[in-house]
Amino acid sequence: MPQKNSFATCLFSAAAALMAQAAHADGVRQPTDVMPAPAEARVSEGRVPVAGVSLVVAWTRPAGGRLQAAVDRLQSRWLARIGAGSFPGTESTGLQLAIDCRGSGPPIPSEGDDESYTLDIAGSRAMLRAQTDFGAMHGLETLLQLLQRDQAGWFLPVVAIRDQPRFPWRGLMIDVARRFQPVPVIERNLDAMAVVKLNVLHLHLTDDQGFRIESLSHPELQGRGSDGRYFTQAEIRGIIAYAAERGIRVVPEFDIPGHATSWVVSHPEIASLPGPYGIERQWGVFNPVLDPTNEVTYALLGDFLGEMAALFPDRFIHIGGDENNGVQWNANPRIQAFIRERGLKDNEGLHAYFNQRVAAILAKSGKRLVGWDEILHPGLPLDCVIDSWRGTDALAAAASLGYDGILSNGYYIDLAYPAADHYLADPLPALSTLTASQRAHILGGEATMWSEWVTPETIDSRIWPRTAAIAERLWSPAGVRDIPDMYRRLAIVSAGLEEAGALHERNRDLMMRHLVGENLDVPGVASLRTLLDLVEPVKHYNRGQQQVWGSQLVPLVGIADAARPESGLSREFADSVDRLLFAPGAIDRSLAGPIGDRLREWGAAAREVTGALVPEFPALREAEAPARDLADACAVAAEALRAIAEGTPLSADRLAASLAALDRSAETNGSATELPVLGPIRLLVAAAAAQGERPKLPDAGWRARVLSIAFPPAPAEAAR
Ligand code: ACM
Repeated sequence: MPQKNSFATCLFSAAAALMAQAAHADGVRQPTDVMPAPAEARVSEGRVPVAGVSLVVAWTRPAGGRLQAAVDRLQSRWLARIGAGSFPGTESTGLQLAIDCRGSGPPIPSEGDDESYTLDIAGSRAMLRAQTDFGAMHGLETLLQLLQRDQAGWFLPVVAIRDQPRFPWRGLMIDVARRFQPVPVIERNLDAMAVVKLNVLHLHLTDDQGFRIESLSHPELQGRGSDGRYFTQAEIRGIIAYAAERGIRVVPEFDIPGHATSWVVSHPEIASLPGPYGIERQWGVFNPVLDPTNEVTYALLGDFLGEMAALFPDRFIHIGGDENNGVQWNANPRIQAFIRERGLKDNEGLHAYFNQRVAAILAKSGKRLVGWDEILHPGLPLDCVIDSWRGTDALAAAASLGYDGILSNGYYIDLAYPAADHYLADPLPALSTLTASQRAHILGGEATMWSEWVTPETIDSRIWPRTAAIAERLWSPAGVRDIPDMYRRLAIVSAGLEEAGALHERNRDLMMRHLVGENLDVPGVASLRTLLDLVEPVKHYNRGQQQVWGSQLVPLVGIADAARPESGLSREFADSVDRLLFAPGAIDRSLAGPIGDRLREWGAAAREVTGALVPEFPALREAEAPARDLADACAVAAEALRAIAEGTPLSADRLAASLAALDRSAETNGSATELPVLGPIRLLVAAAAAQGERPKLPDAGWRARVLSIAFPPAPAEAAR
């Protein structure tokens, strides 16, 4: 229900956000539904009605070109949102926006730029103040997110916002090497990054599967290493300019010495074993690794990195450094002799030697080296930066040695985990024992979009909206951690991300057409939509294990690709099952009816997919198993729900049979998808069997009892 003119004055600080969580978790719009949550938002009684469609901007000081362009972009989003039905006849003046921006930041943003702003909305106007245009642009995004509507029309809250980021490095890494992602993908994701105040685009440009950057000094690198799918230098300059216009830095990564097959396709002489080499098409960790003992390696790296240092203005260059399996170094007696002669001890010592040489090459161009955890060896220059895919302990260990670091572990959005998992990962966990000066080394973090299993059609749906939750972790105060409230605001910002150009929701129809052809109106397609809303791609690295034929050359147009990493429908279902079973004091049987309706609807949809659609559309064959699994699970759930509604416990036999059926529904089925509703359905079954115990148990004891039946320990664990 929309609220009108009844906002109590409150301080939306971290603590208030926590206290307010219960009241906010029910889908009602709040005055400051902004993501990332501002550091401080003081809301007052009343609202500022936004009557006219225009945004009338008054400048305290002359506007810089970059900020003027940002205001122009905001104007068009503002108009598109509130202009519907308003033309012609725009008689009333729109919102007055006064902007006081003290100056432009540098033409290319750099780490440590002032990104703070204040936004005061009261009376009939908004006042935005910032030290730099970077801060002002963040304030513009906040303003647009604050705009909301009820029956009375568009309005803004009366609010005083003081905002600045918690961490200076808030990134999104896009792997364009494994599957190339062309310029339009990058640009629309830069637009979306700006919405949630992310400020670093990390481009993973070279890997075993592709060399995706044009070298003019060594054109054979992209010439033989990319199938012609790479960014030209002109395109890169365009991306850098586009990003800078939005206050976003661009950090390139050239992964060496491992993950380097695409280098040695054209330069086998710098590999650690003789070639020939071809572009790697599949996924994993491969043997080819550069030869750190060969001066020719450093000559080529000097040419190439010098060229890249001139092309990319950012002060940081990422050189990867991860997952060198050592196979080629071990197999080359000359390399092992080099290690002995130089007293380098082992392969790790050789890797350290290599990094020192590369850091020296970069230092000549004034660049700081960034690398994954594996680069951290004794002797690594102190100005190098650790990008941790291992975790906060590794990051803290590096910080205590004096290295700056960023966290990527916990933000692996390619692994298809829920937003909540990423949201709670913190570069500086609450229990961190780092001192204040060590904490200053923790610069922030990055969401990592590895591209084994994404294409330009699906990548947005893997990045968004979950990355907005990561953006909040990196921007907002550490105490902003309420998961239901995060999900409530994530749904709102998701629409804003699409408004800015992201395609994560819109592309669903495109993915459905791969499955059923061009006509989405054919009978039964609504059922397919329901199925796709309930399945998720398998988690972690399981897709690669299940679809071992996966490669760069295989299209990604299956059920797992049409599914979203996190099923909102399944999460809602889990919430309603939780409210039914774990209501304080007693099972809330009044909720059984609506849940039963849901299950019947899903069961019917699943049967329609298997009965009507699969025979018709060959591309849907892999939907048959998940649809059958869903139908079976819905039948099991319906029986449990009936037993709960009637207050008649399921027999031990029926309990065992139901759990066994759910085990079958959870088996790997070739589609690389899973059904998250199976978890809450197991709870329904367990509670149906144990419901007689409910009156005798305290709330926590009842929950534990149901969980222990639904998810019995594996036999090995039970024996311990
Ligand atoms: C990595 O995931 N190997 C950085």
